[in-house]
Amino acid sequence: MLAHGAPIPMTARKSGPLIGEANVPGDKSISHRSLILGAMAIGKTEIHGLLEGQDVLDTAKAMRAFGATVTKQGDAHWTVQGVGVGGFCEPKDLVDFGNSGTGVRLIMGAMATHAITATFTGDASLRGRPMARITDPIALFGATAHGRSGGRLPMTIVGAKDPVPVKYSVPMPSAQVKSAVLLAGLNAPGETIIIEREATRDHTERMLKGFGANIKVEDTGEGRVITLKGYPELAPQTIVVPRDPSSAAFPICAALICEGSNVLVPNIGLNPTRAGLFTTLRDMGAKLTYENERIEGGEPVADLRARFSPNMRGIEVPPQRAASMIDEYPVLSVVASFAQGQTVMRGVKELRIKESDRIDSMAAGLRANGMSVKYGEDWWIVDGRGISDVPGGGLCATHLDHRIAMSLMILGMGSNKPVRIDDGGPIVTSFPIFEELMAQLGASVWRENS
Ligand code: S3P
Repeated sequence: MLAHGAPIPMTARKSGPLIGEANVPGDKSISHRSLILGAMAIGKTEIHGLLEGQDVLDTAKAMRAFGATVTKQGDAHWTVQGVGVGGFCEPKDLVDFGNSGTGVRLIMGAMATHAITATFTGDASLRGRPMARITDPIALFGATAHGRSGGRLPMTIVGAKDPVPVKYSVPMPSAQVKSAVLLAGLNAPGETIIIEREATRDHTERMLKGFGANIKVEDTGEGRVITLKGYPELAPQTIVVPRDPSSAAFPICAALICEGSNVLVPNIGLNPTRAGLFTTLRDMGAKLTYENERIEGGEPVADLRARFSPNMRGIEVPPQRAASMIDEYPVLSVVASFAQGQTVMRGVKELRIKESDRIDSMAAGLRANGMSVKYGEDWWIVDGRGISDVPGGGLCATHLDHRIAMSLMILGMGSNKPVRIDDGGPIVTSFPIFEELMAQLGASVWRENS
């Protein structure tokens, strides 16, 4: 499957029972960060369980362009020979991040305090996404940015020659922005301080600690205050990437809506900054249980078991939970379709600037399949029709957005008529084995032209 090649139309139809174990790939957020911090350490970092999705492969390629030696050693086993903090060299060519907002934003931050220049681009989706959220804070360190209007890619960043440390209050709930500022702060003198009003995923903070950086995180009345001391010597690590809760969401949600299903999804990280969907599903009455709960590598982990749940109810999702499930709203809206009553999602305007405008994309997809959806700038409501009354039968546009593509395929596994999408190509960015794994569980999902 190619992320940026010819469109790959796909179809899913009523499935079930889904039975078995779903071994989902490594966490995308943690995979990007392992490659980037590995490149900024001195010596060889070993990574096991790396997600070999296109987004992460694009980050690996970028780290090579900045001077690190990144090598695939075996299945999901990679090594990174880092160049040390301050050691990036200037890429000889345009750095193309494909579909990956996380890759480009984190690396813009990391290179912003090096005296080098780099030009970044990506696919049509990434070229449409706002970058001012990164160029504003890196300007405080002394970097300059020259991009297209509206702060869009392609964009050239001229890194700061004499960076200064920064105190920055992140204006929106964004782990990408927080992480970009932290990575920039590594190669600045003194202390870089970040204030986060709403807690977002904290993988960068945890991993920086693991690599030996001097970083302090305090919960205060103002929010979370993160203090990072510049110029650390990062020591190479052996990293075991946990499985991705955002990918686990797909087989779990499919099992909840397909009659007779019983699916175990082992080894899923339940870091509270990521696990909001699972709490929400349980609040809706989903038969979702945590087995073998344990702590691994400092993170809470469990095996998740999802069973067919014909009696789910719509709920009002607490807006303060949004950051911990921001990538899961599309698939939640699918489960909400099979619940009784309304599911109300508020405080979610960040969804409008993901790989696509996810409120518009999902509203159009659900409506094309007979559902009633209402929405505004930062909220949407899905009117559930109950477990056996979702019509389906629609052909939907995925807008270069992997999570829209997979969510609509899950919709088709429970709806009365098949659901078709115009392009499943982007699925490869985060979950290259989606089709294979869903089919192994017993789902009917296929590519039209094969
Ligand atoms: C990510 C942060 C989130 C998320 C994205 C991955 C990360 O983006 O949507 O898929 O790895 O830091 P925002 O920072 O824009 O919320």
